[in-house]
Amino acid sequence: MTLNIILLGPPGAGKGTQASRLVEEHGMVQLSTGDMLRAAVRAGTPIGLQAKAVMDAGELVSDEIVSGLIGERLDELGNETSVIFDGYPRTAAQAEALDGILSARGRKLDHVVELVVDEDALVDRITGRFSCANCGEGYHDRYKLPKVEGTCDVCGSHDFKRRPDDNEETVRTRMAEYRAKTEPILPIYEARGIVSKVDGMAAIDVVNDAIEAILRSDAS
Ligand code: AP5
Repeated sequence: MTLNIILLGPPGAGKGTQASRLVEEHGMVQLSTGDMLRAAVRAGTPIGLQAKAVMDAGELVSDEIVSGLIGERLDELGNETSVIFDGYPRTAAQAEALDGILSARGRKLDHVVELVVDEDALVDRITGRFSCANCGEGYHDRYKLPKVEGTCDVCGSHDFKRRPDDNEETVRTRMAEYRAKTEPILPIYEARGIVSKVDGMAAIDVVNDAIEAILRSDAS
């Protein structure tokens, strides 16, 4: 069965962490517009050049750009692959665009998983976050350290990096953007009866179990 899931939640809620678990456990594909935009910035493409300052300020990149990226990526994947939308949609216009993108490809949205979190704890999560510079595996100064200090668990690299937008000031702007533009799209999905709320403050494994239970409900 092909699944299409949205992981929704403010910055640091654990969308990327949980998406990677679903990729590992179910071979789903993670479509993170944040990752796509960061790749475009690194590659110096026209989209990357346009997006960089906006991302560094913690504001939202244009709806056309991100919806274009999602449509292109889905076309590369074909229609038999289950996908997790991570960080998309983030505005009412993106939610509307996603409906069109999915129906044009014979897909439908199965679940919107809302990670419910305490915003005050998120600044701590985000400012402590780092990742492997080689394979991208995510870590945290306190909650998820590499098993061997200074060595990536996945690829063995000793090179790590932090995101330029993971400072407290930018995080506050990102949260304000979430509250103003992203939270208001939840009722669209609630009206369709596809929203499941998960306690995002629980331990990573517990959050993962809760999401797994939601996915299993499709199989029964
Ligand atoms: P994006 O990359 O999507 O960032 P974000 O939404 O701010 O989300 P994060 O990646 O910061 O958090 P996350 O929820 O994935 O948390 P994570 O799992 O890493 O977007 C960046 C920018 O790109 C935006 O500001 C915007 O400019 C632009 N952009 C992207 N998409 C866009 C769109 N659709 N439209 C317009 N602009 C767009 O977890 C955080 C940390 O906490 C990690 O260290 C992790 O180990 C730890 N952690 C996770 N879960 C737990 C737990 N349960 N307990 C303890 N620690 C945990």
